[in-house]
Amino acid sequence: MMQTKLKPVNGQSLAEAAELIQNGEVVGFPTETVYGLGADAMNAEAVKKIFAAKGRPGDNPLIVHVCCEAQMRELCREWNSAAQALCDAFMPGPITVVLPKAAGIPDAVTAGLSSVGLRFSAHPAAIDLIRLSQTAIAAPSANLSGSPSPTTAQHVFADMNGRIPMILDGGACAVGVESTVISLAGKKPQLLRPGGITAEQLRGVLGEIEVHPSVLQAGMVDKAASPGMKYKHYSPRARVVLLDVSCGEKEMLCALQSARDAGLKAELICSRSTAPCAEYVYAYYETAQEAAAGLFGALRRADEKELDLLLVKALPLDGMGLGVMNRLLRASAFTVLRSGDSFLFEKSGKTYEVYC
Ligand code: TXA
Ligand code: MG
Repeated sequence: MMQTKLKPVNGQSLAEAAELIQNGEVVGFPTETVYGLGADAMNAEAVKKIFAAKGRPGDNPLIVHVCCEAQMRELCREWNSAAQALCDAFMPGPITVVLPKAAGIPDAVTAGLSSVGLRFSAHPAAIDLIRLSQTAIAAPSANLSGSPSPTTAQHVFADMNGRIPMILDGGACAVGVESTVISLAGKKPQLLRPGGITAEQLRGVLGEIEVHPSVLQAGMVDKAASPGMKYKHYSPRARVVLLDVSCGEKEMLCALQSARDAGLKAELICSRSTAPCAEYVYAYYETAQEAAAGLFGALRRADEKELDLLLVKALPLDGMGLGVMNRLLRASAFTVLRSGDSFLFEKSGKTYEVYC
């Protein structure tokens, strides 16, 4: 098995990582959103190693990371005024723009699409790594396909140990959910994935934008729009069930109690201010930003604690709440309970009813 080195970010480890990238290898690295699994975007063989390491389906395109605006312009066929406006307002930062792709980008990167997702991360280690590698870096999130995205180098190690040669440890990611993906390749700007830059911020710069139906609904994905959204995502082994925003303390306690009475190991994630009781609660966020920053770590911890059930109070859909709910809806397979609802939980061949 390959030895995976985990090294703190410094001049020496960056040089070593850049050399690996130039040699067609795959490296884990930090960004301000989540950790990425990077390879030379211009080297199709190197890019294929990313898909292999993640177990990712080949029809899900990768984001190409750049270290400056000029490099971004070189990688698209048509730069437009909307791209310029987003660049001026939010880059470097947690946003990816989808544009018609330049001819040089291998099909393996874009899964054969005529467009490419381009991102200029603000993380100094990402910028330095791209500069030193003297290429653009194709990188998805550095988790195994289907698992929660990694927000620490330890999360990457847990998923990628033995699969890649090196991980750069830059500490915890500040944003915690992936970049906002916005397509500028169609007639109107279309939000494909909400993330670090909010829909309100995008509207402030672009005016009206379309929100792709897959952002909040199941089964709304066509290949051309946002291929990644059709896969089961962000799922811990524990079952995740959401409690609607209308649920109060009574419903939260009822759901927890009925699960525990049925012998299930269940915990609750809700805001600190609405937490019904300290016990069995990951009293966990105050603002939607805080919820985003802690989300994927909380999903991973649920498995470390071997929970059967993780109940999560839904967030309002404004600001960062939209990005958090986009992930939580997928993690829960779109299971949202309101007062009076129940669902059946199966464990070891037995069925239990949980209600709120
Ligand atoms: O924050 C992030 O964006 C992180 C860090 C590492 O930069 N990366 C990331 O990559 O989340 P990934 O592969 O896990 O998600 C990329 C998303 C997928 O939903 C994919 O389908 C979409 O972007 N995407 C990429 N290229 C696209 C394209 N040409 N057209 C439409 N969607 C695209
Ligand atoms: Mg991902």
